[in-house]
Amino acid sequence: MYDFTADPALTEHERYRQLMAAADALTAGEPDSIANMANLAALLWEFVPRLNWAGFYRVIDGELVLGPFAGRPACIRIPFGQGVCGAAAASGETQLVEDVHAFPGHIACDAASRSELVVPVIRNGAVVAVIDLDSPEPARFEQADAQGIEALAALLAERI
Ligand code: SME
Repeated sequence: MYDFTADPALTEHERYRQLMAAADALTAGEPDSIANMANLAALLWEFVPRLNWAGFYRVIDGELVLGPFAGRPACIRIPFGQGVCGAAAASGETQLVEDVHAFPGHIACDAASRSELVVPVIRNGAVVAVIDLDSPEPARFEQADAQGIEALAALLAERI
């Protein structure tokens, strides 16, 4: 039985291992993508410390559209190639941004955001969504975070 909360004393590696196990348990056998993204947004919020936003943008008709999230209300539609999310969607590659103010075209949904990690979710070779994490701390995200969220994106590719 998972209680879906993270021990603050966990190492990064162990935290992401537990996040994966909880994500797997929550989404296994559930075909509804909105339900799975909603639970995953809540899980990210619970497990990844020092965030001010965690959630999904989905690819719909060639643009990113806001999906389930935790945090403040956010911009609804983002064209491919715009902002950090649009860069991840257009390139299919993780964007780890230490200082969002230095990122050309960064879209400030919450003025408190200082650093950001965006990981594409790829199914059958196409980006179908991105996972977006924002932090009020500069340089909050490291390679361990990118790798942890990339593993999560791979797990979710067939479940959202
Ligand atoms: N900052 C993002 C936009 C989404 S919000 O952070 C939730 C970007 O530049 O793509």
